[in-house]
Amino acid sequence: MRNITSYEDLVKNFDWSIAEKELDYQKGNPINIGWYCSDRNCLKGKANKIALMWEDYNGKTKTFTFNDIRLFSNSIGTFLQQQGIQPEERVCLFMDRVPELYIGFLGVLKIGAIVQPLFSAFGPESLFTRLENAQTSAIITQKKHLSKVRKIIHDLPHLRKIFVIDSDETSLKDKEVLLEMEKLPKNENFECYPTYAESPSVLHYTSGTTGQPKGAQHVHYSIIAQYITAKYVLDLQENDIYWCNADPGWVTGTSYGIIGPWSNGVTQAVLDSGFNSQKWYEFIQKYRITVWYSAPTAIRLLMRDGTDLVKQHDLSSLRHLCSVGEPLNAEAVIWSKQAFGLEFHDTYWQTETGAIVITNFPGMPIKPGSMGKPFPGITATVLDLQTYEPITTPGKVGLIALKPGWPSQIRTYWNNEEGFQKKFKNGWYICGDRASIDSDGYFWFVGRDDDVINTGGHLVGPFEIESALLEHPAVAESAAFAKPDPVNMEVVKACIALKPGYEPSEDLKLEIMNFVRKKLSPLAMPQEIEFVTSLPKTRSGKILRRVLRAKEFNEPIGDLSTLEND
Ligand code: WTA
Repeated sequence: MRNITSYEDLVKNFDWSIAEKELDYQKGNPINIGWYCSDRNCLKGKANKIALMWEDYNGKTKTFTFNDIRLFSNSIGTFLQQQGIQPEERVCLFMDRVPELYIGFLGVLKIGAIVQPLFSAFGPESLFTRLENAQTSAIITQKKHLSKVRKIIHDLPHLRKIFVIDSDETSLKDKEVLLEMEKLPKNENFECYPTYAESPSVLHYTSGTTGQPKGAQHVHYSIIAQYITAKYVLDLQENDIYWCNADPGWVTGTSYGIIGPWSNGVTQAVLDSGFNSQKWYEFIQKYRITVWYSAPTAIRLLMRDGTDLVKQHDLSSLRHLCSVGEPLNAEAVIWSKQAFGLEFHDTYWQTETGAIVITNFPGMPIKPGSMGKPFPGITATVLDLQTYEPITTPGKVGLIALKPGWPSQIRTYWNNEEGFQKKFKNGWYICGDRASIDSDGYFWFVGRDDDVINTGGHLVGPFEIESALLEHPAVAESAAFAKPDPVNMEVVKACIALKPGYEPSEDLKLEIMNFVRKKLSPLAMPQEIEFVTSLPKTRSGKILRRVLRAKEFNEPIGDLSTLEND
């Protein structure tokens, strides 16, 4: 039995207040995501139910009940308070997928502070940009990432504390404090800070075309959408064992890697390890995973390793599969049906939407290659590229747009209200993607409407990469743009004009690639570099990345007359 019986009925009867009621939330009362994900489950008789089954790349395992995550998040909260962390201060989580990341997330929220998760593969420069912008007060990290923090701490006057979860006191330097979660005093009766619907909760950094990454600021009320979408789209139920592949450094890893399953009181399994088909199938088999939320790049990698490997494992526990982050190609849906006997259900959303907004619902006929239909409570359309009026002709491509006001919509970009306001046109929130809608109301993704590069489901901004490239002594000018890739959908390519005195060479390419990898991250590293004498520009001197991108994709360059005057 699925949680949703008919999409049409759900649309007819849906109201966000259904989720409020199910969560026993009444308007005006306190609402705290940390409390909902731990304490409330204990009050509902699930104290001894397993919340988290964790395994790392060495096969080390740990298990936590809902009561464990309640107590440990209480302990972390108390400790942070004792260390002087105040409500609404930003606390960054900079860790691999260790239990402290998941439980620390709840602990930070419980004291009313704002949690800022960052991908642990980020290099010092990516980290610095985001900590500086958020004026972050504290960071919780692991010993293995400490050297990156130490490189930048002196230029971050707001950063008062660096909490290290796995070090020893003697090797710690100035501002560094040991935070050993399992050794902290237990706190049975912790009073959660009374956050309200509009109190800030999570700050996720996401990339745009212009400028440095923006901090998408969510509020505690977002749980209303995360809870109900996890219930209806992921179909999470009492006896499920859920696995989300995403890292909480990105929004999928928090909205559906923490809040979605735990607000539903569902057990989840976490594998702190990179991609490996064999390992993944073993993980599903071992933990009897029932609901799996993955991503197209991972599915394409699994496809590459073939169905024979699938057959060597008992994956019969799986009952529902979903995907997010990039277009889910039709072949991947068809392959998953052959390989697992189940189709991957595409889900579309963004850091800014906080929760799934367009999706293939369980039980709804899937048109492979389509993203499906809007979640009830979400009004979605495509707008004409010029007039910003809804398009009524089926199949005509326009901008994906949503009627503002759903619970998990971001409230602003941190310190950048102007950038936030630019996301709205003609009364609509503009997602920045293009799609068409067919005569049955299914959405078909076409591509992004900007220069952001989507590599393996991770967005990287050209500006951040170009800024890093310019710091290399040989680089005079550069443009970073997407190049198609059979597995990652897109990878970063850079065109570079060298400074006088530097000669193009393969060694120099490698040196520049490594330079970006270390400063930013492996994702942002250009996979290809082309040395050029000059870059295409508008009359006002803006680099025409779109021209370079179109060349890579063998697409028409389009109308340059408008771009020339950009
Ligand atoms: C892209 C990730 C096609 C899109 C949750 C969007 C998708 C951006 C899909 C958001 C999908 C996400 N089909 N494209 N099902 N899902 N995208 O903020 O360009 O990291 O705007 O959030 O990823 O990426 P973000």
